[in-house]
Amino acid sequence: MSEARTRIMIEADKPAVQDLTTRAFGQPDEARIIQQLERDGDADLQMVAELDGQIVGHILFYGMGVFGKVSAVGLGPMCVDPWVQKEGIGSKLVTAGLKEMHDMGASIIFVVGHDWFYPKFGFTVEAAAEFETPLKGPHFMARRFRFGPPMSGRLIFPDAFGVPIAPL
Ligand SMILES: CC(C)(COP(=O)(O)OP(=O)(O)OC[C@H]1O[C@@H](n2cnc3c(N)ncnc32)[C@H](O)[C@@H]1OP(=O)(O)O)[C@@H](O)C(=O)NCCC(=O)NCCS
Repeated sequence: MSEARTRIMIEADKPAVQDLTTRAFGQPDEARIIQQLERDGDADLQMVAELDGQIVGHILFYGMGVFGKVSAVGLGPMCVDPWVQKEGIGSKLVTAGLKEMHDMGASIIFVVGHDWFYPKFGFTVEAAAEFETPLKGPHFMARRFRFGPPMSGRLIFPDAFGVPIAPL
């Protein structure tokens, strides 16, 4: 089998990403979230993984607010085609995406996701401990790139996720 390669997503990839995301999650919700993030201007970076000219993976990073503070970055949705999962493609996408966000100057990246996947890339519950969201729990993690603001606060997810701000 040839090697998957990652690259920045372009406009022409959108239908394939919608199809892939719907199949990988087994429901249309995440594909709709991607559409709304794009419509609202909240999608900061999207990358795809390509194998023999086919799009087999996708990752999205979005801007998120921290109430009254410097903003942060969130990761997701992301997915890999069910036919080629557990082949290292998801890892390639996360590694490439984190490098881009690091180079773009992000200080901290949040994710709400699988505890068997994201810790492999430095995401920990501890790094997210000082931040408040109703989604808080074992799946709410962060990866900090550098010490500095924001260090704490109430997170404001983009409208596409429909997540309320944690009460005081
Ligand atoms: C999560 C997902 C993106 C992982 O992509 P992938 O290409 O299969 O991941 P990789 O092959 O790079 O696997 C990375 C590690 O996770 C492990 N892993 C992958 N799928 C797993 C599973 N279902 N259960 C437990 N571990 C799993 C791999 O064994 C590998 O471990 P290793 O580094 O110790 O060898 C993919 O399973 C997916 O698209 N799932 C459906 C959508 C989804 O849940 N998206 C994430 C939302 S948070």
